[in-house]
Amino acid sequence: MDTTRYGAPPVLAVGVVRETGDGERRVALVPMIVPSLIKKGLDVVVESGAGLGALIPDEAYVEAGARIGDAWSADVVLKVAPPSDAEVARMRSGQALIGFLAPRNAENQIGALAAAGVQAFAVESIPRISRAQVMDALSSQANVAGYKSVLVAATESTRFFPMLTTAAGTVKPATVLVLGVGVAGLQALATAKRLGGRATGYDVRPEVADQVRSVGAQWLDLGIDAAGEGGYARELTADERAQQQAALEEAIKGFDVVITTALVPGRPAPRLVTAAAVEGMKPGSVVVDLAGETGGNCELTEPGRTVVKHGVTICSPLNLPATMPEHASQLYSKNVVALLELMLDESGALAPDFSDEILDGACVTRTAEADDSATRVGVLR
Ligand code: NAI
Repeated sequence: MDTTRYGAPPVLAVGVVRETGDGERRVALVPMIVPSLIKKGLDVVVESGAGLGALIPDEAYVEAGARIGDAWSADVVLKVAPPSDAEVARMRSGQALIGFLAPRNAENQIGALAAAGVQAFAVESIPRISRAQVMDALSSQANVAGYKSVLVAATESTRFFPMLTTAAGTVKPATVLVLGVGVAGLQALATAKRLGGRATGYDVRPEVADQVRSVGAQWLDLGIDAAGEGGYARELTADERAQQQAALEEAIKGFDVVITTALVPGRPAPRLVTAAAVEGMKPGSVVVDLAGETGGNCELTEPGRTVVKHGVTICSPLNLPATMPEHASQLYSKNVVALLELMLDESGALAPDFSDEILDGACVTRTAEADDSATRVGVLR
């Protein structure tokens, strides 16, 4: 807390730090959101250069009412990517951290944050309930990834997406299959349609068929229902998996582009596209696998790389939102500020109420004072 203003109540300082991860161009707070925090009586401190990856100069933050300074010593640190060891070492006991903290990754920093006495809130652990939609950073960033995946496919493709009728003849529209129709998948379908492709969606939750049709795409029904809890899918049984892979192997042959986004929380990415399915595709076709971080939905995926196998280009970009830093940061800022606001009391002090399922869900380390059940470490959801 800043107690330098004699007689004034302590002012909560919110720090916006510079991301240091490879290729990470996003920033946790964009200037357009700063005035809303200042209006609440908060002090916004931005690390010099924090916005540069998203083409936002320090001056834009100052004009919006923030100051440039030591953001790492603020009461609440806002971040995008999980902190490195060096970054955790810059934090002190009593601070709060909000960001993607990868609580499900084995090599996460949750233990280090708990040991440092930092109260950490992982945006990935916010429950996907309607009240939390405005804070749902996984969804806002998956939307960006879904959109960009289609542009990646179009760039790698040797064929047009739209139908073209020209004096030199007619070109048929590209056929695009999206496997996994959650947030990223639905946006991929909508984007493929807007580019003029013929889009088809497939998921193991039959309830999304109407959403697929609502964006003008066709629904591929393979007769498997694996709807799980909380709007997520359950893992398939070995029999179901074999049935799915065989059916998809047949279906995939007819598509120019396959975009895969299938995810079961906490599990390795389901294998939907086998090597044989890739072999069955026409040379020049493209697979964009968004699930590279959890091993990939395609058997031939090499996470983070673009490879050509059997004449088919297989791309596995790992951080597409970082390639659209301007809008990805804008959406993310809204998410983190909505979460932060939920933690503030009327005086603008940080007072998270852990009986609120959103804060209880998001909080991955909390101090003994904040929770009678003592410090929690690495709560997985
Ligand atoms: P989501 O949870 O909203 O959607 C995943 C969908 O996969 C669900 O609809 C689920 O029913 C479906 N699914 C699960 N198992 C399946 C199976 N066996 N067959 C067919 N469908 C199945 O997830 P969201 O937010 O759309 O993210 C999708 C993927 O994209 C995740 O793997 C996520 O990590 C990844 N992602 C990748 C980014 C990148 O830059 N590479 C950026 C953002 C997200």
